[in-house]
Amino acid sequence: MALGLGSIAGGQAPVYAIEPHEPFIGVLGGTFGAEDRAHFYRSMLFSGCYKAVRLINLSSEIVAPGWQRPVSLLWIDGDHSYAAVRRDLTCWEPHLLPQALVAFHDSLDATLGPAQLIQELLDAGTYARFQQVGLTTVLQKR
Ligand SMILES: C[S@@+](CC[C@H](N)C(=O)[O-])C[C@H]1O[C@@H](n2cnc3c(N)ncnc32)[C@H](O)[C@@H]1O
Repeated sequence: MALGLGSIAGGQAPVYAIEPHEPFIGVLGGTFGAEDRAHFYRSMLFSGCYKAVRLINLSSEIVAPGWQRPVSLLWIDGDHSYAAVRRDLTCWEPHLLPQALVAFHDSLDATLGPAQLIQELLDAGTYARFQQVGLTTVLQKR
């Protein structure tokens, strides 16, 4: 919703929500599934964000290989294991515009994948720290 509202208030950039809504247990113990699809639809209708947000009800690794649109902002908030966050970024990197922003949610817990990957990217110098907002760390592609 935040991304959708930002798009509507700003440049009307299309927002694609890539989320399978299949049964899934997160590394922090959260359980996800079809009920989240209902919450998603309700929040899109309630907020009017359906005007900006397109749901692609599949996993990243299925969608990314056939993707044909440039990505200026990639928001990663999926499976927080290191291997999964790394895979999400690897899937989408070929589609990132120069100087694209990549936001990682739940990025402050050093035991989780997002913080580990962020450190790796900063150490490699391929991304620079752009902004920190709550639990979300935003990097910029160099
Ligand atoms: C931490 S939750 C975040 C949910 C949502 N972004 C939110 O803030 O309400 C993790 C979500 O990642 C989704 N997920 C897990 N693996 C995924 C993948 N490979 N591609 C896309 N989404 C995935 C799960 O279905 C689950 O809903």
